[in-house]
Parts: sequence; C-alpha cells; structure tokens
Amino acid sequence: MWKPSEKIKYEPVPGKWPSQSEATSSLWFTPISIGPIELKARTWVPAMVPWRSTEEGIVTDEVLAWYERFAKGQPGCVVIEATGIREVPSGPLLRIGHDRFISGLKELSDTVHRASGGQTKLFIQLIDFLSIRRRPKPEKYFQRFLNITDGHRAAIGVEDWKDHDIREHLSALDDNELDNILTQRELEDLRIGARERVTDVQFDHIRELPHVLPGLFADAAERAQKAGIDGIELHYAHAYTMASFLSRKNNRADEYGGSLENRARLPLEVFTTVRERVGNNYPIGCRFLSDECIEGGNDVNEAAYFGVELAKAGMDFLSLSRGGKFDDAKQPGVGEASYPYTGQSGYECMPAYISDEFGPFGRNIAPTAFIRKAVRDAGFDTPIVLAGGIHGFEIAEKILQSGEADIVASARQSLADPDWFLKVKLGRGEEVRLCTYTNYCEGLDQKHKVVTCKLWDRIDMEKPDIQKSADGKRRLIAPDWTA
Ligand SMILES: Cc1cc2nc3c(=O)[nH]c(=O)nc-3n(C[C@H](O)[C@H](O)[C@H](O)COP(=O)(O)O)c2cc1C
Ligand code: SF4
Repeated sequence: MWKPSEKIKYEPVPGKWPSQSEATSSLWFTPISIGPIELKARTWVPAMVPWRSTEEGIVTDEVLAWYERFAKGQPGCVVIEATGIREVPSGPLLRIGHDRFISGLKELSDTVHRASGGQTKLFIQLIDFLSIRRRPKPEKYFQRFLNITDGHRAAIGVEDWKDHDIREHLSALDDNELDNILTQRELEDLRIGARERVTDVQFDHIRELPHVLPGLFADAAERAQKAGIDGIELHYAHAYTMASFLSRKNNRADEYGGSLENRARLPLEVFTTVRERVGNNYPIGCRFLSDECIEGGNDVNEAAYFGVELAKAGMDFLSLSRGGKFDDAKQPGVGEASYPYTGQSGYECMPAYISDEFGPFGRNIAPTAFIRKAVRDAGFDTPIVLAGGIHGFEIAEKILQSGEADIVASARQSLADPDWFLKVKLGRGEEVRLCTYTNYCEGLDQKHKVVTCKLWDRIDMEKPDIQKSADGKRRLIAPDWTA
C-alpha cells in the first residue's frame, strides 16, 4: 500500500473511556431516526467485504457467522458488504441480482436481529461495478486482446502489413517504442489490465447504463426488502460505476456527464426509481466520497453540492467515505487485477499507522463536517455518517456534540473488536482490543482472501468448533467475549 513520505508511526489514541452512566447518557448511544425507522444508537459498522460467500454470491455459514459476530456488539447499524446487483459471476462476493438470493439474505437478517437482541438494524450496500481484466502477459495482449488499427500501421510506417505481422512486430518492441505506437488507453490495457469506464460510450452497454441501472438497483432493493433487511445503502463511493458518474473525470457528452448537474443525474434517477419501488416506509441512503483524493477528481466543494442534491431528493442518510480510486492505484503484477486501494487515494480511504503529520485518525472529519454544514444550510436535516480511523469514545462523542456528523462509524476497529461498542456502553472501555491500523485485513481483501484481523486470528486455535480458513491457519471469527 502507498505510504506518505513522512513515514511517521502512530499508536492508537482512544482517549478516556466513559463510565457506564456517561456512556448511556452520551449522544453516541442515543437513538436517531433514519427516515421512517429508528436506530437504537448512533454507532455504525460500515460495509466491509469479507470474501466469504459461495463463488455464486450466496450467503454461507461463514457469512452468517461474520455478521452475527458484529451484531453481538450491538451497534445501531451494520451495513452488509458491497453486494452485486447484476447476474455476473464475481467470486465470493455477495450478490442480489436474482430472487434466488433472497432466502440466504433472509437468514442473514434474521441472524443479525436475533444476535443483537433486536438492538441492531441491518442495511445492505448495493453495488454496480464495470468489468476489469487482470494485467495480461504482453504476448497474450498483442496476440489476443489488441485491436489492430490503421493508426498502428501509420505509427509503424507500414500500410500493407496484415494484422498478424503487426502483432508480431509489436511483441518484439520495448516500452519506449511502444509508447510511440499504442494509444494511452492501449498502453494502460497492456500495463495495468483493461478496465471499462462510464465514459466508454462507444460501447452500447456503457452508453445505456443510465437506462439499465435504475431498474437493476430497484430490483435489488426490492429483494433486500423481501429479505427483511432494514434499509438500503446505494454504493456511490470509491472506484465503482455510480461514483464514476459523479466524478469530475466523467466527461460523457450526453446528459449524464460534464456539468455537476449532469453528473448527479443518474445517482438521483437511481434513487428515485428505488424509492418508487420500495415506498416511503423504507430507508434509503447512499455512501459517497467527501473527496476523490485524485488529480482531476471531485473535491469537497463538489461533494457538498452532491450532498445537498441527494438530501433534497429525499435520501434518508448520507454516509461519507473518501478516496479509493483506480486512477492512482499501483501497477498490478502480471496475472493480477488492479486494486483501487493501493495508491494515495486508497490510503485516504483506509489510512494506516504509518502516516504524515496529520496522522491516520479523523482525516474525514473536516470534509464531512463541511458537507453536513452545506446540507444543513440548504435546509435539510438528513443524518450524516462519518468513518475513518475512529477508535475511541471521546472523539466519537466530540464529533456528534460539535455537529460534525450525526452517526459515527468504525470499520476496522469493529473488526479488531466486534464487541467494542458494547464494552464502551457498559463502561468497560479498558477491555477494548484496539485496532493498530496495520491494514493486514485490507491486504487480505486485496488478495481476495477471507478477511480476518491479525489481533485475533491465531488465538485459541486448538479449541473445538473454531471456524478456520481453508488452509487451517487462521480463525475466521473473533473470540467470544462475555459481558
Ligand atoms: C476489509 C475491508 C473491506 C471493505 N469493504 C468495503 C465495502 O464493501 N464497501 C465500502 O463502502 N467500504 C468498504 N471498506 C471501507 C470501510 O467501510 C471504511 O470506510 C474504511 O475502512 C475506513 O474506516 P475505518 O478507519 O473505520 O476502518 C472496507 C474496508 C476494509 C478494511
Ligand atoms: S488487521 Fe486488525 S488491527 Fe490490523 S488494521 Fe485490520 S482490523 Fe485493525
């Protein structure tokens, strides 16, 4: 993963833990309305992909155990990982693109409600993503993938060569020579792996996305509702389709690209279609970026504009993340796919303990507060969810008290200690197992391996009934804690 040049090392700083009475009277443990429903606390576990479904995207026992474990800590809300809305194979990532997925998800919602004693609401993050190929071997790229054009013939200076001859010729050239012959996009396809973009309007299926996606999201949302899931989080963040429509880099010439208004159009149309389908009695919000953290990408001012538009449209909550883009990702090895959390924007999304002067904690607070203020100034009281390096009660409560956000979320801290919200609420903060922000978990995600935490994944391995990874080396679920 990318590291800031300063390379300053940080330890967790949870601050003072509250007594039980301080915790129960705090804002963090006070209910809040999300549209038509109420969360019992303003604590939140944001989406985290654990790579535990079947290859067909169906809920497994391991998926149930993962969410059950978070639910035992009784957060106000747990968001199910980014779940694919299409009928496309995507490895062990959850899917919801067909009615056959409903029964597994129903078991999941039942599990979470039961394990939390009714304290936790379960939302699901609905995602669409475009296709991405692994970085090819050069010979394979030239023989199979590259579409030979007259542009190549002109650049080489041969008009009558057959495709086969051009392919052979290109295969033998070095990088500098290729730089002068291939287009920028072809060079990227060769050196990083081909990746579709929302701006590829020369392809029918990309041009038509604005007509296809609202229905797909609405179908998925209806299935979630049928599965007893309590609400929808539309995934408008990071490197995926909807965030790419919002991006300043979206220069589509139709009414879905270019101006801010055009870029917001599809996210708003998706929301309206989903709303029509599931009705007013069902919470719908989205996750989007407070800053894309890439050159030429959206900054916080654009994010504030989108926040106001999404609130005006009637979203029930807005959850802010940052960064996580393909644009500055590291070059993958041959045979590997690009991963949008390996560059600087990835660092901003999941800041690690080796950091800069600012440090890894609370980097998303100021931008989130800025967006919340814009939303409030426009007259909307839409709850705003903040995440990024939060691992202590003091800071979470200060964020809420000072009106920087309405809900404070913790991803990695909740993975390190799924009971931590309950421990804090019971005045037992000293017992919290603190995340050290090493990003071991994120490294597993990058390799598409089942995600665990290094603080507990080798503990008590000899005990019976421990769910383990396929190689038997890691436990899959944090050890039990009894209140
Ligand atoms: C293993 C892992 C998987 C993640 N998967 C998702 C995801 O599916 N959707 C999403 O919006 N964010 C995802 N995130 C980002 C987190 O939700 C969160 O925004 C980020 O980790 C920063 O919060 P934190 O500092 O509390 O961990 C993931 C993070 C981790 C560590
Ligand atoms: S592996 Fe555990 S300690 Fe390390 S960043 Fe992830 S959750 Fe935190």
